[in-house]
Amino acid sequence: MSSATSVKDALNETAPVKNMVVQGWVRTRRDSKDFSFIELNDGSSLRSLQIIAKNSLPNYAVVQRLSTGGSIRVTGGLVASQGKGQKWELIADNVEIVGTADDSYPLQKKGHTPEFLREIAHLRPRSNIFSSIFRVRSRLVFAVQQIFQSRGFVYVHTPIITGSDCEGAGELFRVSTIDIKNPPRKNGEIDFAQDFFARPTYLTVSGQLEAEAFALALSKVYTFGPTFRAENSNTSRHASEFWMIEPEMAFCDLNGNMDLAEEFVKYLIADAKKHCPDEMDLFARFVDKELLSRLDFVVNRPFQRIAYADAVDLLKKSGVKFEFPVDYGLNLQSEHERWLTENHFKCPVTVFNFPKEIKPFYMRLNDDGTTVTAMDLLVPGIGEIVGGSQREERLEMLEENMRQHGMDPVDYKWYLDLRRYGTVPHSGFGLGFERMLMFITGVSNIRDVIPFARTPGSAEF
Ligand code: 4AD
Ligand code: MG
Repeated sequence: MSSATSVKDALNETAPVKNMVVQGWVRTRRDSKDFSFIELNDGSSLRSLQIIAKNSLPNYAVVQRLSTGGSIRVTGGLVASQGKGQKWELIADNVEIVGTADDSYPLQKKGHTPEFLREIAHLRPRSNIFSSIFRVRSRLVFAVQQIFQSRGFVYVHTPIITGSDCEGAGELFRVSTIDIKNPPRKNGEIDFAQDFFARPTYLTVSGQLEAEAFALALSKVYTFGPTFRAENSNTSRHASEFWMIEPEMAFCDLNGNMDLAEEFVKYLIADAKKHCPDEMDLFARFVDKELLSRLDFVVNRPFQRIAYADAVDLLKKSGVKFEFPVDYGLNLQSEHERWLTENHFKCPVTVFNFPKEIKPFYMRLNDDGTTVTAMDLLVPGIGEIVGGSQREERLEMLEENMRQHGMDPVDYKWYLDLRRYGTVPHSGFGLGFERMLMFITGVSNIRDVIPFARTPGSAEF
């Protein structure tokens, strides 16, 4: 890269600068009598830099044909702006046209719907909303690393290809090199012993099981990586490929786990507000008018906690006609979750102690023998953003849970070893990174907070 200055740095200058080089894409251009105004954006900031191209430039005729979407490299003097709305502008000594764009460029001016922009996912990062979303996304990756590193958690890269179905929901993408036209067979079934890994393998639905192994050695760990679910639900909150952050802590019970989840959510909100003020302001103006007040409220107040059985009672007594039935023993649907957090408590809510039948095998059985130490953190507008639990650390109980979930303990020897050798109470959770981004930006569709969304029936780009 050349010694170009980013638009962000240019706008943050404290004194005029001669011979500054900037480069980027033309947002708009308009002509005045003796010169042309160009709004130049390079994605370093929401803001653009105003370029003044005088008619004395040798290539002024070419500059006048520049249109939205073209790329340029400009050398000139950064001076205090005469116009309103910006502190600095650049008086061009030279405008080099790097790449032109004609009027078929789809991002003309304002007013595109998110649906339209989704069809041009390769160009939407050039729009204000999407460049802002992705700058916030990047900042929050950093914030995730910061909070855990500053608290002594060790980052673990759990595998993407696994042999286990952690959540037991059977929503797995198979990883295989078997010739699908002519698979090897044994007793009529496909013989995965002859597959690449000599066993059936899948893309991971969670790094939890492997994170547990590391927590039971390094005490406090976290994973942060891509996660895959072949769940055929076409909703605004489900993606087939998403990113999940999974802390796992040895010597930690459900209460410690709920505390961390709450602190973590608050930390990420506060970080975005502190480090991305322009972007947050844009979201508040164009995406969700209530955003900033809602986030302030969430950061400043403790979250509610309620046992599943009590939540079911509240829902039953609510008098609301829900689409899905509410009864003890049934999963809470998103409409129920949203009623609890949006209508009843009007703040984030952690629901805990769910019936064992509706939760995965690894959750610790409570003394009542019927509920497990599960926790789901629900937020307004979205529903569940965190799911976690205290883990069953007692060997016999865990083997029994596995059998009840139709799993063969023999297949999980390594996982059971963690209970055979120096077992300890431990807990963890998973935060869906995209759902958190939806909550922080006010964006209502998960497809709009991930660069290239993968959802059922759709993997273009
Ligand atoms: O509740 P889930 O399924 O929990 C687990 O996977 C645990 N193994 C985590 C753990 O305890 N270490 O998923 C955790 C979170 C959900 O609360 C949700 O935010 C997100 O992951 N999530 C999804 N996000 C987008 N698209 C999907 N299809 C998602 N499925 C889950
Ligand atoms: Mg869950």
